[in-house]
Amino acid sequence: LASFSAAELDARSTYRFLIGSVVPRPIAWVSTVSENGGRNIAPFSFFTVASTAPPMLCISIGLPESPKKSIKDTLQGIEETREFVVNIATVDLLDELVASAAVLPIDVDEFAFSGLTSAASDLVLPPRIAAAPISMECVLYDSVKLGTDVLVIGEVVRFHFREGVLDENLRVRLGVLRPLGRLAGPYFATEFNSVKEVPPSTQ
Ligand SMILES: Cc1cc2nc3c(=O)[nH]c(=O)nc-3n(C[C@H](O)[C@H](O)[C@H](O)COP(=O)(O)O)c2cc1C
Repeated sequence: LASFSAAELDARSTYRFLIGSVVPRPIAWVSTVSENGGRNIAPFSFFTVASTAPPMLCISIGLPESPKKSIKDTLQGIEETREFVVNIATVDLLDELVASAAVLPIDVDEFAFSGLTSAASDLVLPPRIAAAPISMECVLYDSVKLGTDVLVIGEVVRFHFREGVLDENLRVRLGVLRPLGRLAGPYFATEFNSVKEVPPSTQ
């Protein structure tokens, strides 16, 4: 058994412990716009549901290590417009997702850079990623600075599902969605047919 008090750990080990322990993680593929109109996309795996009624999602965005460096474009866009779109990344879009994680000046159009087409949102300014099977339009509810990161909480005001993603009972068809996720560093694919149900312990 190896046990550690958080107080005695350096930042790198702590980061490794967290990203290796909280797995598998889903990926929010977030589209934003900045005040000057630049369109930005970036993936975030510190991501989950925060409330179901009203529907809320949260992502955690890392702050720059030195105050001289600028905050991530995604955080800047969310702070400026108070709106963002969480698109769900899929296995087929891995190359585009990796491209969208590049650090680029805020005025570079990351849709064009990543080879992605945009689709207008209905209720918020940032566009959706047209190829994503699910997109959720969000309005900023609150943001909380927590140590090295800012926890961004958004209320979902509109859901979009591509044709065929929902079944007749409005359940998401996982075999159609093929969501892309992240382990510590590597990506993983959820193939619905290979998901095994784990029976509860009988003892
Ligand atoms: C799969 C994946 C998951 C990521 N998850 C996070 C995350 O949860 N929080 C974060 O701050 N950065 C995360 N990143 C890094 C950001 O995507 C990266 O810093 C990006 O350049 C930010 O872009 P922006 O400056 O355009 O907002 C992740 C990167 C990848 C590839």
